[in-house]
Formats: sequence, C-alpha cells, structure tokens
Amino acid sequence: MARREPSFICQNCGAAYGRWQGKCDACGEWNTIAEENAATARPPMPGRAPRKGRPFALEPLSGEAHEAPRLACGIAEFDRVTGGGFVRGSVLLLGGDPGIGKSTLLIQVAAALARGGHRAVYISGEEAVAQVRLRAERLGLSGAPVELAAETSVEDIVATLSDRAPPRLVIIDSIQTMWTDAVESAPGTVTQVRGAAQALIRFAKRSGCAIILVGHVTKDGQIAGPRVVEHMVDAVLSFEGEGSHQFRILRAVKNRYGPTDEIGVFEMTGAGLREIANPSELFLSERDLGSPGTAVFAGIEGTRPLLVEIQALVAPTSLGTPRRAVVGWDQSRLSMVLAVLEAHCGVRLSGHDVYLNVAGGLRIQEPAADLAAAAALVSSLANAPLPADAVYFGEISLSGAVRPVAQAAARLKEAKKLGFGRAVIPEAARDGGNDAGLALDSIAMLSNLVSAIAARGTRSQRGERRAIGDG
Ligand code: TYD
Ligand code: MG
Repeated sequence: MARREPSFICQNCGAAYGRWQGKCDACGEWNTIAEENAATARPPMPGRAPRKGRPFALEPLSGEAHEAPRLACGIAEFDRVTGGGFVRGSVLLLGGDPGIGKSTLLIQVAAALARGGHRAVYISGEEAVAQVRLRAERLGLSGAPVELAAETSVEDIVATLSDRAPPRLVIIDSIQTMWTDAVESAPGTVTQVRGAAQALIRFAKRSGCAIILVGHVTKDGQIAGPRVVEHMVDAVLSFEGEGSHQFRILRAVKNRYGPTDEIGVFEMTGAGLREIANPSELFLSERDLGSPGTAVFAGIEGTRPLLVEIQALVAPTSLGTPRRAVVGWDQSRLSMVLAVLEAHCGVRLSGHDVYLNVAGGLRIQEPAADLAAAAALVSSLANAPLPADAVYFGEISLSGAVRPVAQAAARLKEAKKLGFGRAVIPEAARDGGNDAGLALDSIAMLSNLVSAIAARGTRSQRGERRAIGDG
C-alpha cells in the first residue's frame, strides 16, 4: 500500500505532519497546523505522460565576466541596504509590522525609479487602486509614471508582465495575498504562498526584472507563514521601528548580492518617509544631559559610525526574582555584563531590578556596546552622572577584561564630529591611532571603570553607594 503523504502543514514554519496535532514540534507554535491538500500541491496531470527532460548547455566556471548590473533607485538609504541597487532578476522580501510603512517606502522606491526613466510596476493585493493613488497623492508622487494594479492572481500578473518588455522593478504588496492556480490550498496558506513566490521568482529569473515581495511579520518578528520564502529569495530586508518613534530602520537580514550589516534610516513624516543621512544627530537629539544612567555608545552599523544613547535604570526590587528588562539590545548580553559586574567588580545587583534601553528605537547587535551598557548600569546604581562629553565602546570578556573592537578610529572621528571631547575605550585600541584628537581614557579591566564611576557618585547617596564594592 502506498504511504500517505503528510498533509498537515505548520502555517508558521512549513513543517509537514501525517496527522493533526496542537503544537508544532519544529517551531514550537500552537494551533498553527492546518490540513492542506498535498496531493494537489504537485498536480499529477492526468492523461499526460511524464515529461521527458530537455538537455541544456552546461557552462564553465570561468568565462566572460558577468558583472551583475545594478540599478540604484536614487533613495540613498534604500540603495545602501540593497548593496548599491537592484540586481537584475533578483527577488527581495521586505518584512515588517503592519503599519510600519512598507507600502509607503515601496511606492516611494517605485516612483523614484519610474522618474529615473525605468519601468516600475506596483501590484497591490491589499488595497484598491484608489487607495494606492490616494497615498501617492499625499506623498506628492502622483506625477511619477508608476504602473499600478490591484491583482492577486499570480498567473494573471505574470501574463500581464510578460506581455511587453519586462519592467525593471515589480512590487508585490503582499505575498500573503497572492494565489496561484497550480496549488489548490486556500490563499494565505504556506503552500499557496510558497507556490506564488516560486512562480514570481521564476518570472524574475527569466525576465531579468527585480521583484520586491512584501511579507507580513508576526508579533515575534518572524515573517509570518512563509518563513519558507526567506530561503527562496535573494535578499530579506526588514523594516523596523518603535511604534511611538518616527524613526524607521531598514536592515538586510540576508543578502546574496550585498552586505547584511548596513542599515538605512528614515523618518516617517506627514509627507512620507524622509531619509536621515546623519543618524547620530537624530539619535542623540533628545539627550538628557547630566542625568545618571545614560552613556553614549560609539557604534558602527555596516560601514557607518553611529552614536546612540544607552539608558539604564537600576532600582531596588520588591520581587523575589529581580526583573531584567531590555529594549534594543540582547537580553543574554545584558545577563553576561551583569554577571561580570557581580563576579569581578564587586557590584551586587541581585537585589535590584535592571532596565536597559537603547534610545530612539534602535536595535544594537555589536558586542562593542558592552562597555557603554556597563557604564550606564553602574552610573544608575551609583547615582553618578557620566561626563556629558564622553563616548564609550569596548567588548567585555567573561574575565572582566575590556577587549578592543574593530574600527576604533572611525568611531572616534564620528564622536569628534558631533562635539564629544573624550572617549572611554579598551586599552589595546589606543595603538590604533587617534587622529580625532579626543581625550582618551583607556581601560584594561571593567573594574577600573566601575571604581572611576563610583568615585563620581554624590556623597548624599550613601545608601546606593554601599551596593558597590571597591572592585
Ligand atoms: P503603510 O505604508 O500603509 O504601512 P504598511 O504597508 O507597512 O502596513 O503606512 C501606514 C502608516 O504610515 C500609517 O499609520 C500612516 C503612516 N503614514 C504617515 O505617517 N505619513 C505618510 O505620508 C503616509 C503615507 C503614511
Ligand atoms: Mg501595506
């Protein structure tokens, strides 16, 4: 007897099961497994003999240089993230929370490209043509020759686009609303999304046009349902921002044709997204000068230095297990810094709640932020404001040593440019040269920094100071 094909598919991660169950073993999500018609997912084509393969020519690895021709859209913050423009035939997936501004960003990209004389098509599966027009009007883009349609059938879209010379860019907003005849499952299911994406990717590779697929994101930041699509596309971009802030950050999560550490910074205004060419100024614009618990981190995002404020609050806890909350930084990185402070610097935090926040809604991934985070934490605990004109960077090792980090000179230069006067840096970074002319305070062990900050603590705060030993 033929074995039954598994036909229950997790709508979150695409794992297949032979029977229904409440929890997906692969991704751990509950109630995401739904029955899908696996037999029709690969249509057997009744009455037709299986197609015989067609031989194709194999190419040598060497050969005429085939430089991938790129097309920049002209929005510098966007082009930086794609790696200098759209590669022919490439497919990008743009993920982001609902309402973050994905449609706004893409209509601006399409308009910029169309104004540059390239054919750009915007297909909306979520909004009617009138709604997209209304937005374009608000953005002052009505005059741009973008070709627009509200369609959801992939076959119709491919047929329309193949009709004449292929466009240079096609935007599909969103992939979850698309459906293909080749698959019988309901629209929005993993099988449909995968089928639709496959058909569009095939079209992109064949015609050489670039396609941007919009993908919805679930509350925990995964691109909903079609996580499988992430593996099929050439680049995955994520558009992020804190609801209460106007900043939006475009980040490449995966990029076959470019860097993955570059970010593009935008501000959402009444007239659409505005590029922020110098993000440091923006992230430092609302600084609380002279309050304890804040430190300025001199970071690097991709090739661009970026100064950002790290804020900490350390307060006595009333709970049995103290709280450790972090926004914009890695939770386990915070735990590590706290453990090093306790073990090597005599800072007792087991009776304190700890809150750490990266200002402006930015998310930092660099270990170089360790030193700035530690400085902010100790400053809050000791109630000792840090010098307002100082920046911090350095990685902290488990032994309590402060390790050098890459691109020290670029970090110092940016700090100088923004009017900072001194930098607290790892000792080994000193040899890297200090063309910026900042006063350097080099630190070999974290405990040196802790005692320096504790010494700044005001004497009226004896109660708090008792929590800090002498290292
Ligand atoms: P939208 O691009 O529709 O988000 P997404 O496609 O990611 O769901 O953006 C919606 C939000 O952006 C909405 O809350 C209004 C805001 N917005 C502005 O603030 N200014 C503008 O010019 C536009 C077009 C939108
Ligand atoms: Mg939208």
